[in-house]
Amino acid sequence: MYSEKVMDHFENPRNVGRLENANAVGEVGNAVCGDIMKIYMYIDNGIIQDVKFKTFGCGAAIATSSMATELVKGKTIEEALSLSNKAVMDALDGLPPAKVHCSVLAEQAIRAAIKDYCEKTGIDIEISEPERSFDCASYHGAMNG
Ligand code: FES
Repeated sequence: MYSEKVMDHFENPRNVGRLENANAVGEVGNAVCGDIMKIYMYIDNGIIQDVKFKTFGCGAAIATSSMATELVKGKTIEEALSLSNKAVMDALDGLPPAKVHCSVLAEQAIRAAIKDYCEKTGIDIEISEPERSFDCASYHGAMNG
């Protein structure tokens, strides 16, 4: 059901924990399953120098958080903003259809952290909501009955 990469990131998640010197924090949740993802970043010179996460959620949410932190570390905030849930899933060699919505949480948490940083530092940057081909909340609800 899950790829080896998903299992690896679930069993050995990278960048777990709280970042003490974080200057950007993003927290998002899925109202239906109640899963919560929190991303901490230390951004300097427009570069994400360090990033950590804490996820209270399913295995796919943990694996996507872990992979997302790996993908944005060392990147500019613009590059991180362009990270899609699909790119995170591709990096994990895919997720089962019923777990696609979990990857959306990782993308949203990254955006929320960058938004927090931009608001605190007065950086004017457009952070748009990515287009979705499905409604995450209702999809999630449907999967969980
Ligand atoms: Fe809630 Fe995966 S994020 S089940």
